[in-house]
Formats: sequence, C-alpha cells, structure tokens
Amino acid sequence: MWDNFATQENIEFRHMTTHRTILVTSALPYANGPIHLGHLVEYIQTDIWVRFQKMRGNTCHYVCADDTHGTPIMLRAEKEGIAPEELIRRVHGEHLRDFTGFHIEFDNYYSTHSEETRQLAETIYGRLKERKLIEDRSIEQYYDPVKEMFLPDRFIKGECPKCHAKDQYGDSCEACGATYSPTDLINPYSAVSGAAPVRKESVHYFFKLSDSRCHDFLSKWTTGQLTPEPPLQTEAANKMAEWFEAGLSDWDISRDAPYFGFEIPDAPGKFFYVWLDAPIGYMGSFKNLCERLNLDFDQYWNKDSSTELYHFIGKDILYFHALFWPAMLEHSDFRTPTKIFAHGFLTVNGEKMSKSRGTFITAESYLQQGLNPEWLRYYYACKLNGTMEDIDLNLEDFVARVNSDLVGKYVNIASRSATFIQKYFDGRLDEPSEAGSTLLAASITHEELIAEAYEAREYGKAVREAMSFADQINQYFDQNKPWEIAKDPTKRQLLHAICSDCLRAFYRLTIFLAPIIPDTARKAFALFKIPDNPSWEDLDYRPVRAPKELREYQHLLTRIDPKQIESLVEANKHNLQAAAQPEPHSQQRHAEHQQHTIQPIADTISIDDFAKIDLRIARIAKAEHVEGADKLLKLTLDIGSETRTVFAGIKSAYDPAQLEGKLTVMVANLAPRKMKFGLSEGMVLAASDERGGPFVLIPDEGAQPGMRVK
Ligand code: MSP
Ligand code: ZN
Repeated sequence: MWDNFATQENIEFRHMTTHRTILVTSALPYANGPIHLGHLVEYIQTDIWVRFQKMRGNTCHYVCADDTHGTPIMLRAEKEGIAPEELIRRVHGEHLRDFTGFHIEFDNYYSTHSEETRQLAETIYGRLKERKLIEDRSIEQYYDPVKEMFLPDRFIKGECPKCHAKDQYGDSCEACGATYSPTDLINPYSAVSGAAPVRKESVHYFFKLSDSRCHDFLSKWTTGQLTPEPPLQTEAANKMAEWFEAGLSDWDISRDAPYFGFEIPDAPGKFFYVWLDAPIGYMGSFKNLCERLNLDFDQYWNKDSSTELYHFIGKDILYFHALFWPAMLEHSDFRTPTKIFAHGFLTVNGEKMSKSRGTFITAESYLQQGLNPEWLRYYYACKLNGTMEDIDLNLEDFVARVNSDLVGKYVNIASRSATFIQKYFDGRLDEPSEAGSTLLAASITHEELIAEAYEAREYGKAVREAMSFADQINQYFDQNKPWEIAKDPTKRQLLHAICSDCLRAFYRLTIFLAPIIPDTARKAFALFKIPDNPSWEDLDYRPVRAPKELREYQHLLTRIDPKQIESLVEANKHNLQAAAQPEPHSQQRHAEHQQHTIQPIADTISIDDFAKIDLRIARIAKAEHVEGADKLLKLTLDIGSETRTVFAGIKSAYDPAQLEGKLTVMVANLAPRKMKFGLSEGMVLAASDERGGPFVLIPDEGAQPGMRVK
C-alpha cells in the first residue's frame, strides 16, 4: 500500500529538480525611521520565499542593509546632536532587532555606509563616465543662505496657496491636500533654519538615461526581450510603457555638500545622491557576505552569470529598480536582475496607516505588546498574491483568521492526536495504516500545488491548499472518533493507527507551513524529536524519514485575544505624542527624489530653426479612450485640409467629452510615430511640470482650423 504512493518514479521526480543558485534582496529601509507593519509586508514576503527556496535544497542568499545616506538622515542626526555615523549605528541595531523578532533571517544585514558599497559605487560611476554616460550641467535650485545648503522640497515650508494653512511642506498641503511646487508657497521658509530660500546655481552630475544606448537597452529589457522570462510583472511592465511614452530624462545623481554620503571621485564637495548608492548597497552587502563565507562575488554579478537575482520591492520604488538600476548595471558591465518582484502597500482596516487612529504600528510595539510575530506572518501570507495590489490588515479578520486556521485547524490536529499517543502508546507512532493512505495521497497532491504557489509568491493560494489539507486531516480524525475507540481496550491497534496517521500528516503539513511559521514549525519538529530545518525532501514518502515518536506534547501556539489588539492600537496612539516628527506622506518618503529643479530656459535657436516646426490650429473632432492605455487619449484632429490621428498623454487631466469641439495647437510636421495602439500623426501642445498639468493649449477666439501658428 505504502508503495502505491511512493513509487520509484515519484521519488525520482522529487530528486530531479535542478539545483538553483539564487541571490535575493529586499529594499533597504531608510536609517531614519523605525520598522513598521507596512515594511514588514515586504520583509516577511521575501523571508517566506527565501525559506522556501532553502527548503527546496537551492542555494539561496538573502541580503539587505540599512539605506543610510541623504539629507533627512544628516539633519536628523544633527537634531539629535550626534554624528550621522552614530545615528545609523543605533538604527541598524534597532532594525536588526525588529527583523529578528519577526523571524526574518537575512544571510547578511549590512549598511550602505560601507567600504564595499563605496568601492562598488566608484567602480560603477567610473565605468559609466568612461562610456560618456555621465554629464555635468549647471542647474538652479532653492538654497538656504543661513544653513548654506540646497533644500529638497520637503525642507521648504510656507503658507498653502489654496487654503492658507501655515507651515505646509513644499510639495503638498496636509490641511487641504493640494499639491504644488515650492515656488507657489506664500512666504516660503527653510524648515532647517527658517530663512527665506534663494535660488542658486550649481553643477550637478547626470546619468544620461536619455542616451539612445540606455533607451534601446531598457526598451528591450523591460519588455522581456533580453531574458528567458520577463523580468517584470505585467502591471509593472505596463507602468514602464507609460514612463517610456513620457520619455526618459537624465537622472541627477549628485548632491552638493553638506551631504551625508560618498563623495564623488575627483569632484570635491559633490556627493553621490542617496538613490545612486542605495541599490549598489545590495551588492555591497553581498560582497561583505562573500568575504565572510568565501563565496565568489563575480560568479553572481558578472555579466554572464548563470545565478538568479531577485529584488523584492514596494511599488513606490519601481522606477528606481526597473529603470535606473538595470541601466546602471548594464552599462557598467554587471549582470542585470532576473526579476523584480513589486508588491502593493499595506492598509489597516481599509485605510492608510494612521498615527491618530493608532494603526501606524511599529514592529517594536507589536512585539513589546507580546503579540506573536507568526500571527502576522501567517495573516500576511493569507493575503499575498504576487501582484502589486495593496493588501489590507483588517484587525478583526486578523484575529478570526489566525484563531480559526492556525489554532483551530492546524495546532488542533497535533494536540488531539498527541494526547492518545502519549497516554496509550508511550509516545511511539505506529506504521502507516491502510485507511491513512488517503491522507498520504492528499499530501502528495497538495505538495505540488503548494510548491508552485510559493514559487509564484501566491502565498494566499499556498495557505488555502495547506488549510484544505488540514481540513482533510481533521475530518479523518473526526470520522474515526478516536475518543470512542479509546474506550474499548480491544481496539488499541486501530486507535494507534488513526492517531499516527494524523500526526504523520501533521508533520507534512508543518513542512508546508514552515516558510510562513518557522518558529512554530521548529517546535512541532521538536515534538517529533526531529532536529530543526527539515527540507522539502523530508516530505519524502519513504518510511525512513517519517517521524517515529513523540515527546511530551507542549502547546505550539496560542490564540489571539482581541484585547491584545485593542491595547496594541492604544499603544500606538501613545506613540503619537512621543513622535518627534510626523510621518511624511508617501510621496515625501523619497523626499530628495522630488527636489524641485528650476528648469533653465533652453539653448538659443534661430528663427529658421523655429520655422521648421509647422504648428497648426486643430479642431478636436473626436476624443476617445484607448483600451489598455492608462495615459493616452486618441484624438481626431481637423486641420482644415486634412484630419490627423494623435495619441496624446492627457488622459489624467481630461475627459474625452470635455475636449470634443475645442480648438488647440498641433505640431503638424512631426514624423509619424508607431505606437502600441496605432500610428500617431503629430502632437498637440500642452503645458506641465510638477505643479500640475497637462494643460492643453487653446487659441484665442477667432482662430480657425488649419491656420499656421508662428
Ligand atoms: N530606502 C528606500 C529603498 C532603497 S532600495 C535600494 C526605501 N526605504 S523605505 O524604508 O521607505 O521602504 C523600504 C521598503 O518598504 C520599500 O520597498 C517600501 O515600498 C516598503 N514599504 C514601506 N512602507 C510600506 C507600506 N506601508 N506597505 C508596504 N510596503 C511598504 O524605500
Ligand atoms: Zn492647503
């Protein structure tokens, strides 16, 4: 009977899977804030995947680090009266403590402020420069004349131009939600010194993303033409297509002193912008691991590397990872990522995490309140699915789910069966029974589906499979009514068989769930006197590896008491008063990315140059949505003598109906461009910058379709 399921073929199949060598990263958390439940969506998700890969027998390294550079960290250290190095050392300890508390097991948790990262950043920058992909340019920015530093938007404050609330940030108003540019603020002042900001020119270094080499490479890479499998999820690839449509502009990679970061070689007083060295921190952390474990760094990062490289990130930093990062790697002779796995954002009870509601919950407070980290790991796993959709932590559902699944179904199997095995059979398991073979068969079916689901980061699916197996085991137990059989001393053997079957199935179920609840799994394996870390191969259905005996049953996992959740929320409301600074808006988190550049007026051209552009008044005869396009509207333009079809990136600002019949201005002699949705025969003119737009140009009354604009 046993062999029916453990056929030679079956066993060989299990051993045939090829061995993979994998490097995995999670995004590097900023070193100026605590780890919170939002972050944990990412680190838990990655950790589950890494544990799964390791259990499959693959070589897998998981590295991360603190992202330590930039203006906010420099200023925060200053405010605390300590050196930035001291701040980042302390925060490193806090972050690592929190991650460890949630059983996130990095192979290396390092810092971007390291020699390895500095050297790699210099190498990459040097190679880009050699290839003429770095250019310097003078730009004008806001400057704090007292503090003598350039100001990212986030550090310029003033009165909101819309609702006149005082002390609003340079990019948006917290009172009325308006977004604008720092130039719009009434009475702007520097949040650092209080001084009125002035405009000042300075030389910056740019990575020439607009260069055709970058463009050509990225258009192929992002669409999966250079890799065996597409490196981006569909939604991410669509986002990229939009960015491509908008055009790639050069990327400002330098910041002026004072700045906490790496000084650029041969450019005194100029520093690498934090987002340049942050992803290089992945390499730096891995390099440091290589030094410790004597691994071959080049084997993983050479252009022709056959190892796999995966970056888990939040959707907010896709731009950096799917554009800048692969372009930097490609043009500095390193390999590019195998895949980028982007996930959505956490909401709590359907809303953005909020300090006033007590739902901005830090990892530290969760653990301090005595909540079990595996409850959260399990709940997140239930909710995760490999897409970029946001995931909601509904606190009521959290309690219900964990209590009914993990305790009510999973732990229940062990606690019920173990009692009988201890009481009547001295802790020893029986040989597999005929009746139990259905459970074994079920386990084999579930196993494959679960493995596939883990691989695809469809953890919700993996959990559903595992729980349906748990249901089958519980049903088997209930149908056989061991509590009644136990009353009849002549039926000891049957009792032994039933409980042993359930426990063996429980052991397999534990292997299925181990990536999600590693600590409970470790306790469960200890129950079977099995040293921890069984691998997926230990599912092997040959009897040799199956558990044989039990030690005294000890409780594996407790229920959540809803009161614990109430106090957690309360505790995080208290955090509010203690918090020195409000948490920035999500768009402010990468503050420096939004540094407001004052666009210089373009190079002078001659009237002849201008005359080359044939601008015409056009009547928008028809405006339509384009199926599958997030940004584009399809316009049919009447320019008197002919009609033109133009795809315009103005969907975000206009309803098609609102445009029909209006006059506008078009470039009539632009070379037609083939787009995904059809041929675009020209361009309409519209104004925009970070303050808003696009605003379509409309001529003064009296203009007629076809008139030339000059
Ligand atoms: N330092 C950058 C990443 C540099 S990677 C070379 C950064 N740091 S962060 O601390 O703001 O975020 C770290 C990761 O956590 C990011 O992937 C981010 O998307 C993720 N999350 C931060 N808040 C989150 C939620 N509320 N929900 C889900 N993920 C979130 O970005
Ligand atoms: Zn306002």
